[in-house]
Formats: sequence, C-alpha cells, structure tokens
Amino acid sequence: MNVRDSEIVAQLLTQQGYRPAPEISEANLIVLNTCAIRAKAEQKMFSFLGSLRTHKEKHPDVKICVLGCVAQQLGDTITKRMAHVDLVVGTQQLYQLPSLLEDPRNRVAVELLEDFAIPEIVSPETEPDHPSTQPPSASRFVTIMQGCNNFCAYCVVPYTRGREQSRAKEDIIDEIEQHVARGVKEITLLGQNVNSYGSTNPVTADGSPYSFAHLVRDVAKIPGLRRIRFTTSHPKDLSPELIQCFAELPTLCPHLHLPVQSGSNRILTLMNRRYRREAYLALVETLKIARPDIAITTDIIVGFPGETETDFADTMALLESARFHGSFSFKYSDRAGTSAQSMPDKVEETIKAERLRTFQHRQEKISLEHNQKYIDHIVEVMVESSRQDSLMGRTGTNHIVHIAPTDTQFSPGELVNLRITHAGPHALRGAVAPAHS
Ligand code: 5AD
Ligand code: SF4
Repeated sequence: MNVRDSEIVAQLLTQQGYRPAPEISEANLIVLNTCAIRAKAEQKMFSFLGSLRTHKEKHPDVKICVLGCVAQQLGDTITKRMAHVDLVVGTQQLYQLPSLLEDPRNRVAVELLEDFAIPEIVSPETEPDHPSTQPPSASRFVTIMQGCNNFCAYCVVPYTRGREQSRAKEDIIDEIEQHVARGVKEITLLGQNVNSYGSTNPVTADGSPYSFAHLVRDVAKIPGLRRIRFTTSHPKDLSPELIQCFAELPTLCPHLHLPVQSGSNRILTLMNRRYRREAYLALVETLKIARPDIAITTDIIVGFPGETETDFADTMALLESARFHGSFSFKYSDRAGTSAQSMPDKVEETIKAERLRTFQHRQEKISLEHNQKYIDHIVEVMVESSRQDSLMGRTGTNHIVHIAPTDTQFSPGELVNLRITHAGPHALRGAVAPAHS
C-alpha cells in the first residue's frame, strides 16, 4: 500500500512539473512516506528526519514533507519535535499534496473522513515516464479498497487509514485495461482486506451485489493480462467462491498470502481475529485441493500480550501443519490507541526475541524443503530484471528465480520456462529450458 501511495505522490508531483532529483542533496522537495505498523518503523522516521536537520539549516528553501501512517497518527507532534519539517500530510490528504505545498501556512493536514473515496486522479494515462535507464515495469499495483474495519487488537491500521471503502468496479477494470494497453502483464490487487471488497459500500453502477471473487473473475477476462495477484486476505473473509477462482482461473497466480498471526485459539481470541486455528487449517487444506501447486505464506506475531509457552507451542505446531512456503514474523510491538496496548501480561523483550528466532529457524528449514522440491522441475517465470548481471524473475508461486547467464535476450514481463538447478530458503536458481514462450 505504501509503495503504491508513493507512486501516486510521484505521479501528482510530476503533473505539477516536479522531476525526480538524482540525489537527496539536490532536491528542492523531500517527501518521506512513513509506516506505523511497528515502533521500529516510527523510530526510523525520526532518525531519518533528524539527519535532515543540518541539511535544512544550510538550505532553508528545501521543503521537507512527511506523509503516511505516522504522519496521520502523530500529526503536529512531528512538527513540534522536528521544527524543520514543513508539512505533515495524512493518509487521505495525500491526494492534495500539490495544493497543500502551494501555501506555506499549511503545516499539518491529517483529517480522516468516515466515507473517504479514492479520487479518480490515478489514471495510468498520466503516470510519469520512467527514467530512460529503467524499462517500464510489466507489473503494477492497483488499489481496490482502502481502510480497515477489523480492529485486530494489535493493529494501528484502522486508526491510520480509517474506515473500509471499496473503489467502483468499473474504475478498477478501466485502470487495469489502461495498464494492459501500455504493456503491463501482471497486476496485484491491493487492499488491507481484499476479501471484504464490496461489502461496505456499493461498487457497481446499479448497486447490485458484487464480491471480490466477482472482481477477480472480471479482471481475469481482460485480454493480454498474464498474471493476477492480490494482497492481503483475512482468513475469516476468504470465501469458497474465491477459493474456486484458484481452481478455475489459470491467470490467478498459485500463491496466497494468508496471515494467521498465531496458532493459539486463546491468543487469536485476544487478538480479535474471529477465526480458530482449526478453521484456518481447514482453509489451507481446501486451497491445496483447489490448486495443488499453491504456495501459502503468512504473517506471525510472537509475544502478543499474555502469550505463554503453551500458546507459542501452538503457533509452532500450526507451522508444522500448514507448512508455509514462507512467512513474515514479528515481535509484538505496542501501538498507541490499539486495544492490545492496555492488555496485561506483556511479554518480555528477550522472550519475544527467542520465540522469533525459534519460529524463523524452523520456517527457514521448511521453506528450504519446499524449494528443494522444485529442483529439476520446469517452472514458468516472469522476467523482472533483464540486466545480464542480475537476470531474475518470479514464479507464479512468487518464488524469486535467479536466471543463469544466457545468450537469449529477455525483456521484463516476458514469460520464460526455466529448469530449476539450485534452491535456497529464500530464492531459486534456474537455467533456460529448451522451449520457452
Ligand atoms: N506488532 C507486531 N506486528 C504487527 N503487525 C501488525 N501490527 C503489529 C504489531 N503491533 C504485523 C501483522 C500484520 C503485518 C502487516 O504486520 O503480522 O499482518
Ligand atoms: Fe490490521 Fe487486522 Fe485490518 Fe489487517 S485486518 S489491517 S491486521 S486491523
């Protein structure tokens, strides 16, 4: 979501005549997009802003602007602590950045509306040209909804991105068609919780019911689009209709990121996740039946308030049952305003670190075991970087594949068949197989 927001800001500024500076030291405007999901991301922001203080003293005309979730949450706390920051812009005001920059009296714009709709200024028509050194990307993000109504106990997102709002289906299809007309081959549909797309506001012109599964089916009909991905899914909203899409739509990539967060039912309840581990594991089984080659990845939080050794053992046991292809795992981090912040029995930092190590160690082994199964198999890879010194692509299962040097010239977005020769826990290596399309 943040990458996409940064793209939108670059696009808006380009329309105003701004051009990317080759170096931060040469910029007239420095825009920092921020993440509030864990305390570390927020600390990084303050240390980066601190490092700009002397630069601003020497170049008072340079404008420094902070965007995103930390901006949304902290508002004028940022300008008070960092007086050299000119402008703080929240998650919904980002679209007004150019006009906010025009008046130096604007310092903090962080209003959060209940019924915010993503403005229609993000048409690919006006996307900035890529610098000539970089080929145009064959893969693009398309936001289909924003905000979140789930209020997981640990999570700051409902407070920083506001209430869930889905974009009109026609606008989404139109945006994707424009991308495809410009050579894009892969689309990732984005939302905090894509599975509830269309459930909180009407997304069709006549107001008829339309779900995420409907959207995926309609996107799959767009000629020329070779790959569809989406992120992120909440297990409680993963519908049988969507699982059926994995069985029926060859362009829907066989990868699903399905954050489970914990393997303990007690902790899942405390987290307000609204599913049980048994239901999650049943989903995993159903998905594997629908699409036997599917790779499932997840997010895990260790050391949520009250997590005991027994709860953590449940998470480790769930890892053994689900055998995720990969995961992102985090130590629980207290976030202001969330319900977990005031929960008792906070877990000690050293215990969190130890549990994280234990989890990651086991996950790494499982990932490697999965990846070794691809050795000697032919996989289809979409080329991402075609530079001879860093030839690489991605499988439908979202594995990165480094491509052995070859005389064949590839371009980004091309689909190539590779024979896998090596496997590590995080990436594969492959060589061009005889027939490639
Ligand atoms: N502490 C640690 N991890 C968190 N995440 C979200 N909030 C927190 C928090 N307070 C993790 C979740 C989520 C991912 C994007 O970040 O696992 O799925
Ligand atoms: Fe946060 Fe839960 Fe919403 Fe995901 S579903 S953004 S974890 S509140």
